[in-house]
Amino acid sequence: MNFWQKLPHGFTVLAPMEGVTDVVFRDVVARAGAPDVFFTEFTNVSSFASEKGRHDALERLDLKIAPNLSKTDPNISKITDRATNSTPVVAQIWGKNPKHFGDLASALEELGFAGLDINMGCPDRHVNKAGGGAAMIKTPDLALECIKCARKNTKLPVSVKTRLGFTKIEEYKTWLPLLLNQHLAALTVHLRTRKEMSKAPAHYELIPEIIKLRDEISPETILIINGDIDDLKSAKELSEKYPGVDGFMIGRGVFKNPYCFTTHEPTREELQNLFLYHLDIFDIRAKELASRDSRYPYEPIKHFIKIYFTSFDGASELRQKLMECKSTSELRKILEQ
Ligand SMILES: Cc1cc2nc3c(=O)[nH]c(=O)nc-3n(C[C@H](O)[C@H](O)[C@H](O)COP(=O)(O)O)c2cc1C
Repeated sequence: MNFWQKLPHGFTVLAPMEGVTDVVFRDVVARAGAPDVFFTEFTNVSSFASEKGRHDALERLDLKIAPNLSKTDPNISKITDRATNSTPVVAQIWGKNPKHFGDLASALEELGFAGLDINMGCPDRHVNKAGGGAAMIKTPDLALECIKCARKNTKLPVSVKTRLGFTKIEEYKTWLPLLLNQHLAALTVHLRTRKEMSKAPAHYELIPEIIKLRDEISPETILIINGDIDDLKSAKELSEKYPGVDGFMIGRGVFKNPYCFTTHEPTREELQNLFLYHLDIFDIRAKELASRDSRYPYEPIKHFIKIYFTSFDGASELRQKLMECKSTSELRKILEQ
């Protein structure tokens, strides 16, 4: 039995999001209220295969925050110990070179991941030009070869996250059976085509048809639905409406509410405290990467500010001040004021 099969019916998953769901943010979400499964940001298999890119690839695949610093620094261990995050983490990978899929697959088990997911849905122009993400929908033979090579090299359950099709919705009628015929451990369907990006509403009307395909072709494959599901409440409603779906993946909902995997409605103070926690973990991660001759850049933390400071009088002015800060100490100072 793999870990997917042990999850409760109607389980929740934090979607893989590049530049967002790294080890730091996963920890922040776990503190607010963890989903049943986390996905990492995606890692390029060919980057891992090259001497130059391997360091960066492995950094993305860190599962724990500063394990070495925590051992020697009690101040750090006090903070990292709070994050007793035992939720399974699935490593998402992408690329187009089957051998490289095999090489990375064989490393992931040892790194401590619960599963391996192949990205066949990313609409990014550069990723698609490199033959990865949603471009795989147009090269099904290669897609199947990559799945085969990944599987051959790991005992981890292998899953795929994909879209309905590249250009037309109807493509799902041939694309999804092709994937289901691989008897994957799990299949996540983002209910849009590549062409629709994230703009058109997710095609919930197709859920019954997708359940039918799964039941007919590969009943053992865990089916996860993704697209426009904002929180636990919406996931529960969908689960009642479509009991044939096993799990629900939430992406951008976490930007609206980091407590989206719970029914808790956070107060302004709780959100601010969560941001302060984010800053603590951020600083520890920066220190850790510096000790490894690497860097955890400051600027991307600005993307997160809107999550924590919203919907109250003066939120916009406060955000503006926070956006002007150049370090986590400056951010803290503004909040103290
Ligand atoms: C900032 C951002 C980064 C993303 N990066 C990835 C990624 O690395 N891998 C992936 O499969 N999907 C990625 N996605 C797509 C999401 O996983 C998800 O499929 C999409 O946002 C739709 O779900 P939602 O409506 O719940 O947001 C990304 C989405 C966003 C907004």
